[in-house]
Amino acid sequence: MSVVVSTVCGVRPHVVAQVAVSVDGATTGFPVDLARFYALATLWQEDVTLVGADTILAQEAAVRAAPQPGPREAGPLLAVVDSRARVREWDRLRRLGHWSDVLALYADQTPDRPPDSTTAELITGYNQVDLAEVLERLGAARGARVVRVDSGGTLVGVLLELGLIDELCLLVHPVVVGSGQRWYGSFAERLELKLANTEVFDGGVVWLRYCMA
Ligand SMILES: NC(=O)c1ccc[n+]([C@@H]2O[C@H](COP(=O)([O-])OP(=O)(O)OC[C@H]3O[C@@H](n4cnc5c(N)ncnc54)[C@H](OP(=O)(O)O)[C@@H]3O)[C@@H](O)[C@H]2O)c1
Repeated sequence: MSVVVSTVCGVRPHVVAQVAVSVDGATTGFPVDLARFYALATLWQEDVTLVGADTILAQEAAVRAAPQPGPREAGPLLAVVDSRARVREWDRLRRLGHWSDVLALYADQTPDRPPDSTTAELITGYNQVDLAEVLERLGAARGARVVRVDSGGTLVGVLLELGLIDELCLLVHPVVVGSGQRWYGSFAERLELKLANTEVFDGGVVWLRYCMA
């Protein structure tokens, strides 16, 4: 299976969000088929993995315990939206073996970083990161063509509000959890989608791939 990258307007990269969800749209509170999730995620061969700080923070203990083979030269760049400078494990993230490097996305008002920090930074926005500018700069300065968003819903919702998502994939697990964060965050508008593909996997997990109509 191959992924067709649609026309990129200007220098903004193609932005795809893939989220593992329950039938009622929750992103937590059930066991995710991680092998399937990451196998599908490799289809895009993204240049940049754009991740919400809360997604990184939820993995902090696992990151500290994980092997550190070092940066993967051919891997994507990990860019984390972190206007409050909450992420601390930058060096460990860089050495996890998934990404070629890490980039902290900060705003003007981001608290001071540790003086010995060597993490590359991109500063946009005043209180919060300006996501549109980030995408433009990733395209223009770093030549990024495809950005894959990894978020439990909050960052996806903000990107949807800004009209910055081109493609949405839901990996639907056959469970209803009843509460918790939804994949669309606080986004609450009508959105037309065009179904591009579906796949049904063992265990009743269904992959729905949509393009923005
Ligand atoms: N099921 C799945 O596929 C999946 C995937 C990933 C994670 N998860 C789970 O989901 C949870 C984390 O997800 P989450 O939805 O809580 O958070 P998240 O999307 O990972 O992080 C929220 C991000 O949104 C940013 N943000 C919020 N409002 C913004 C605005 N107006 N402008 C710019 N940036 C803005 C925040 O930036 P600041 O840091 O600057 O505030 C933060 O980086 C964890 O429990 C994780 O395990 C599930």
